[in-house]
Amino acid sequence: MPGALPPPFADGKVDLRLVDWYYTQESVEQNFPTIAPLTRDIGDLEEYDFVGMISEGSFGKVFCVLNKPSKQYSALKTFYRLGKDDLKPQSFLQELLVLNELKHKHIVRFIKCCSSKNDEDYDVFHLLFELCRFDLQKAIYNKNILWPLITIKTTALQILKGLEYIHRKSIMHRDIKPANILISNHGMVKIADFGMATFYGKPNIRLDSEICTLHYRAPELLLGCSPYDWRVDVWSAGVLITELYRRVPLLGGSTVDEQLTNISRMFGNINELVYPCCKQLPRWASYEKKNGAPCEKTFKSVIKPYAMRVGKHKLSQKDFLGTDSMRVFYDEHGVNLLELLLSLDPSNRPSLTDALKHNWFKTEPHPRKNLHDLVNAFNLSQNHNIAKNNELNGEAPKP
Ligand SMILES: Nc1ncnc2c1ncn2[C@@H]1O[C@H](COP(=O)(O)OP(=O)(O)OP(=O)(O)O)[C@@H](O)[C@H]1O
Ligand SMILES: [Mg+2]
Repeated sequence: MPGALPPPFADGKVDLRLVDWYYTQESVEQNFPTIAPLTRDIGDLEEYDFVGMISEGSFGKVFCVLNKPSKQYSALKTFYRLGKDDLKPQSFLQELLVLNELKHKHIVRFIKCCSSKNDEDYDVFHLLFELCRFDLQKAIYNKNILWPLITIKTTALQILKGLEYIHRKSIMHRDIKPANILISNHGMVKIADFGMATFYGKPNIRLDSEICTLHYRAPELLLGCSPYDWRVDVWSAGVLITELYRRVPLLGGSTVDEQLTNISRMFGNINELVYPCCKQLPRWASYEKKNGAPCEKTFKSVIKPYAMRVGKHKLSQKDFLGTDSMRVFYDEHGVNLLELLLSLDPSNRPSLTDALKHNWFKTEPHPRKNLHDLVNAFNLSQNHNIAKNNELNGEAPKP
């Protein structure tokens, strides 16, 4: 069910001058009418206490902070100044620009931006967000958490709903991966980290193809395609949902060439039969030279053991022996949706609007309204860790 491109700027809410600014990268104050007031009257951090650091990323740090007057906790993302002339870091402005357009229950809630002075008297910029409980990377790779099919389906549904909304705003996220998907205390998916997001649908624009974390990067990007569109996010979402089933990375290449080879081994060779305009892509010649030998598509056989279930639970390989075959089912709809999301030819990938209508979401087990079970499992595993650490430190576990 290949999807039609959602019409750019369909709801007319995106200020086209912002998009032009984004592409020309000119002075923000002159060309950025909606954001300019926000960056001029940016406020300061005096009313916040720093509770602790949540993460340190490539462009800054994320802290848990407490608003002293309201006693509310939030997450504060602080941006590094990359160079002497970097008065307002570009990644901060990009993220601010996009966040200002997005308000949805599956997008992390942006509260405001703030500034402070560092030791050298430079302005440092921050974005304040609702505080979420954990990110998906932590939940997928936590051995104490079970991922029954109903949790996979509910998580996938909420991610796709959030992404559909982003695409309807003519924005592509360009860095969908587990660490950028947060889960709130109320068990809701919240898409975060818009530092690589940009607008799509402007003709004749050269978009950078060196975006998106390598493991989640779509084949057209790996082959140097530009311009490209929202379909790059559809590929990343497919890789991420497969990771929810398998709990190991699907395509763990460490270079662009290795990643393309891994994709060929999993989905078959890229050629004109499966991706008619592949030969026009900038890195095609180098790909063809390195991946001459025919590769069979192995995706179905790789995902199959993880898509075999008894009731809501995954079967491990050893469980197949002696299992009453009548009770075992194969999650055919889930695998079918993944195959569509992971089409080599981007034009065969469904729009998120179409993906959300897929039978997977209409069949047993039906997705839940929230991920309370996942939050409870995460909280339990954290308590277990605290108890274990206390034991190691010679303290009795707290009741
Ligand atoms: N609102 C939030 N609530 C709780 N944790 C958060 C929040 N925002 C971010 N985090 C945590 O901080 C991490 C980094 O945040 P984010 O991805 O926005 O920053 P980044 O600097 O772009 O990181 P990276 O370069 O590693 O992608 C997330 O993976 C998540 O674990
Ligand atoms: Mg991130």
